[in-house]
Amino acid sequence: MSPRPSISLRAFRISDYREVYRIWLDAEGVGLNESDTRKAIGRFLKRNPGFSQVAVSGNRVVAVVLCGHDGRRGYLHHLAVAREWRRKGVGKALVAVCLRKLHREEIPKCNLFLFATNRPGRAFWKRLGWTVRGDLRLVQHRTLS
Ligand SMILES: CC(C)(COP(=O)(O)OP(=O)(O)OC[C@H]1O[C@@H](n2cnc3c(N)ncnc32)[C@H](O)[C@@H]1OP(=O)(O)O)[C@@H](O)C(=O)NCCC(=O)NCCS
Repeated sequence: MSPRPSISLRAFRISDYREVYRIWLDAEGVGLNESDTRKAIGRFLKRNPGFSQVAVSGNRVVAVVLCGHDGRRGYLHHLAVAREWRRKGVGKALVAVCLRKLHREEIPKCNLFLFATNRPGRAFWKRLGWTVRGDLRLVQHRTLS
């Protein structure tokens, strides 16, 4: 499904950062940390040129997703749609663009992190055909200084 005609999708530019950050701040289910500063997001966009997307209505950013890959798996982060634009196919359209881009790079699978408490998020991903892997746990360590 394409989003409404008044919406267009394009690559996330660092000049979108301020608007994007506001959407993230308002989005339950998105956890923000030191990896979400303007500098860190700029680095992510440079490492994965053209993958991360925004949805724009007029000149306003209304949704965003970060997308990248490490040569083996694709990753989505921080998919968020401004509240008044939800349930109009925008999230689904952003995800479809990312999956197409990853497929073109011959990346066979895409992963994302979902808070266990994010039930609406879980319902969304399942609706889109994603599998919630109950056999895996996230294992993490801070990098060494
Ligand atoms: C989750 C989120 C991105 C969905 O975006 P959206 O643009 O509203 O979703 P869409 O309109 O593209 O919906 C796609 C499908 O999922 C379904 N869906 C969307 N939200 C849903 C929900 N909360 N519960 C159940 N199904 C849902 C839609 O009905 C639609 O189904 P259809 O294709 O059969 O019509 C949005 O609600 C959001 O920004 N949430 C807060 C941030 C968040 O949790 N992000 C995920 C982090 S992993």
